[in-house]
Amino acid sequence: MEKFTIYGGRELNGKIKINGAKNALLPIMTSTLLAPGNYKLNNVPDLKDTRTMAELLRKIGAKVTFENNQLDINTVNVSKPVAPYDLVKTMRASFYVLGPLLGRLGLAEVSLPGGCAWGPRPVDIHIEALKKMGVNISLDGGNIVAKGYPVGSKIKFKFPSVGATGNIMMASVLGKGQTILQNVALEPDIVSLGDFLIRMGADIKGLGTSELIINGKDCLHSIDEFDIIPDRIEAGTFLIAGAMCGGSIAIENVNCDHISIVIDKLLESGVDLKIIENSIVIKGNKKIKPVNITTAPYPGFPTDLQAQWIAYMSIATGKSTVTDKIYFDRFTHVSELNRLGANITLNKNTATIVGVSSLKGAPVMSTDIRASASLILASLASKGKSTISRIYHIDRGYEKIENRLTDVGADITRV
Ligand code: EPU
Repeated sequence: MEKFTIYGGRELNGKIKINGAKNALLPIMTSTLLAPGNYKLNNVPDLKDTRTMAELLRKIGAKVTFENNQLDINTVNVSKPVAPYDLVKTMRASFYVLGPLLGRLGLAEVSLPGGCAWGPRPVDIHIEALKKMGVNISLDGGNIVAKGYPVGSKIKFKFPSVGATGNIMMASVLGKGQTILQNVALEPDIVSLGDFLIRMGADIKGLGTSELIINGKDCLHSIDEFDIIPDRIEAGTFLIAGAMCGGSIAIENVNCDHISIVIDKLLESGVDLKIIENSIVIKGNKKIKPVNITTAPYPGFPTDLQAQWIAYMSIATGKSTVTDKIYFDRFTHVSELNRLGANITLNKNTATIVGVSSLKGAPVMSTDIRASASLILASLASKGKSTISRIYHIDRGYEKIENRLTDVGADITRV
């Protein structure tokens, strides 16, 4: 099994270009199932999840090629509307095929995602909404069997779930009647999916607000070219790397509006940060001020940067707290960060971090994409050697992270 070996304590200097956003890409890939035709997606990150989703689309009947960060998808043939357990268990976003398959075929069989590394992640909001839209749903052998074309309805989500907003938006754009979705997610990934669907001919009003009004269309069409938006979580991760390691790095191809809360929090922590068009130049500060954060749906502080922020605060000059209000159990990185010498205690969904003057390299183990990122950041800022095992997690969400960090002066090797 591959590991990273990191010799920490080096400054980072140079440029890192941000890739396309995984969480915008994945639902866009499944939305191509809605209308037969050829699609070309550009700025596609080369991730394990991209390849898993490509594999799932192929199983369903699509033709998919992926080269040089460009995806070509042909969805003329959609013959097997099934998302099997072996794929869903490796990537929950496989559940995103449910909405488009129902829209196109009125039929889908999708394995019910179980829990994940950090606890339960239910899909009840998706299911309740589809039932309200007249879809018949049953559970058979661990699979959700969904039958019937979704019919327009008024639905208020109990929580602005990103996945449910995407899935139900895709279920609503084809077919009968008007769907009104309230308390929807505002994440840029959802707005980008909406933009893609509108380019396909969908009638969606209210993107980026908490209410969407969708008028079902008889048919949609394919799209020649679409650029995946830059990944705000990748940008945030590399910004925190710059803040922790010192030196000066330019993070390029960023949509700064998408991470304004992260920029504000970094400034509050005392870094020197300059925005030049779609680039951010960050210079780490030796004296990091403690800054509390609480995660929240967009535009709040993203849960996908919570682990990285805890790593950052572990070398701040004082005490801070980090509370996760999206995922109450997403803290598997805490005990690993403590192995590197951090002083973090956990009480329910709040981590209290007492900054230490330095971290010290150690063997640690990653448990999910963002936990891996936080361990890399902490190892880069540690004295001495760290090894990080189970790095297959990081390959799900960051393209060739070791090469990009090596290019700016980090000592990180995949072994
Ligand atoms: N929730 C429910 N019922 C549902 C759906 C969600 O109770 O039917 C709860 C969840 O348990 C959680 C909260 O609502 O407490 C938010 O979940 P959401 O549905 O918004 O998350 P998701 O769609 O499953 C996406 C990202 C995650 C990211 C979250 C929150 C993708 C493919 N995944 O997940 O990304 O953490 O939104 O922003 O877009 C990652 O990239 O590392 C990652 C985990």
